[in-house]
Amino acid sequence: MKRLKKLLGAFLLVLIGIGIGKFILGNKPKQVLGPTFFESGSSGITSNGEPTKIKDGARYEVKDGESIQAAVAKANQGDVILVYPGTYSETVYIDKDNIRVHGVIENGERPTLNGNKQLNDAFLYSGNGITIENFKIIDYKGNGIMGQAGNNFIIKNNLIINTGVYGIFPQYGKNGLIELNVLSGIEDAAIYVGMCDNIDVRINEVFESVAGIEIENSRHCLVEYNYVHDNAGGLLAFITPGLPIKTCDDVIFRGNYVLNNNHKNFAIPGSVVSKIPSGTGILVLAADNVVIEDNFIIGNKCFGIAITDLENGGMKFSTDGGLDPYPDNASILDNYMANNGYNPSGAIAKLTKVAMLDKLDIGFIGGGSNHCILNPGRYVTLGLGSFAQCEATSTKAVKTYMLPNPVPPKDVSQMKKGKMAYYGICAGCHSYNNIIVGPSVADIQMIYRDNPEGIVEYITNPIHKRQDFPEMPPQTHLPEDIKMAVAEYLLKVTK
Ligand code: HEC
Repeated sequence: MKRLKKLLGAFLLVLIGIGIGKFILGNKPKQVLGPTFFESGSSGITSNGEPTKIKDGARYEVKDGESIQAAVAKANQGDVILVYPGTYSETVYIDKDNIRVHGVIENGERPTLNGNKQLNDAFLYSGNGITIENFKIIDYKGNGIMGQAGNNFIIKNNLIINTGVYGIFPQYGKNGLIELNVLSGIEDAAIYVGMCDNIDVRINEVFESVAGIEIENSRHCLVEYNYVHDNAGGLLAFITPGLPIKTCDDVIFRGNYVLNNNHKNFAIPGSVVSKIPSGTGILVLAADNVVIEDNFIIGNKCFGIAITDLENGGMKFSTDGGLDPYPDNASILDNYMANNGYNPSGAIAKLTKVAMLDKLDIGFIGGGSNHCILNPGRYVTLGLGSFAQCEATSTKAVKTYMLPNPVPPKDVSQMKKGKMAYYGICAGCHSYNNIIVGPSVADIQMIYRDNPEGIVEYITNPIHKRQDFPEMPPQTHLPEDIKMAVAEYLLKVTK
């Protein structure tokens, strides 16, 4: 009863959180800029690694009919760009540090970025200390908000609908917050934390997407109080082979509502997420040290929680030597689970049939060791024979995985620019030997063996070659020397 109370308390918190979110978002008459952890006047950090005091930021205003990008072009470190309600059809590139792009909500109306299914991305940032908040973003083909190697970001209070492959996608960033966003209709992951460190994903609502929240090849992520419903798969902690960063470690899924994730999987055929069975609650695929605690996991028809390795997850990894394909040290603490696995498909259906189960809350299939669970008798389980009783009973001590101070930007001087661009941009869609969104790097290397110029040409002006793939977004935002460097780097990648 106490436990139930605690869970109900958490549920209320989510509702209140979302309610407050809607209230703040919907009814705020005048913009009152709350604090960020890079408040103007505080010490920020510039790209050369030297801390500088940010002067009181200038404010730029963008009104309906004007261009957000034009304001970004004028803005300097520490500036705030206020965007008023209206419809903006553009892609906003932010390659400066400490810029806050703030949607002003008037009479419940927020500024809308509309890609009209013509444009690829709404926001693409590569700066550090970027805040993007209060926007409505609809009908893009690639991403709603994508970060490319930017650290110390805040993505907050945005409504992101039908924006193509990813909704919110910080790639290769450290120290970030994704909070109070509502996302739906995304073909891959609504929120995709890729190759990142120290990220909190809190109080978001994600639904009717292929994957709700995906933590991939990332470390120290707290995924808490999110409302994750009616996707094909709810919460995922994944390793995708062939990416430059090879581990996924230390993820807490806590206090989330993972309900009825039974949507048809409408991912791009052949992509990694196309393999997620509809009816997936929480999936841990080869990730280590994942804690699952205090979640409500209800009505997911294939399973509530599954822990498995890359092979059983249907991914090639044999050529990726740097990789441990097995999940280790998963802890399943107390969760409320009901009515999961009532109509499974594929391999799970076979396994549950053999075990004569008509439900499945928690299953473990394949290799990996040192897993533990509390009170397994409360759930319908499969294959947990090797699980120990957990020693720790709660992650209460962890309040956040964000760091108290902004971290310095990625050191570009230490890292060759081509590698940086490959990690930060290309690897979001191209893995060495798997299909994420685009063809594998190994396939690209066969086409362009001694021809980096050909790659430069293609990425500047991509033509749609493969009917079973989406179009590749043009990389015209990259300077010529970086395009060449990334092309040369891509041809040299070996795993
Ligand atoms: C948002 C996803 C995405 C990103 C980011 C991306 N690509 Fe692609 N790429 C694709 C897709 C999808 C295709 C397949 C397009 C087609 O065949 O119509 C593709 C195809 C390619 C091809 C094959 C061209 C050919 O002639 O067959 C090359 C080369 C390429 N990408 C290089 C890059 C490089 C270099 C980067 C990083 C600067 C990059 N891509 C970033 C999605 C992406």
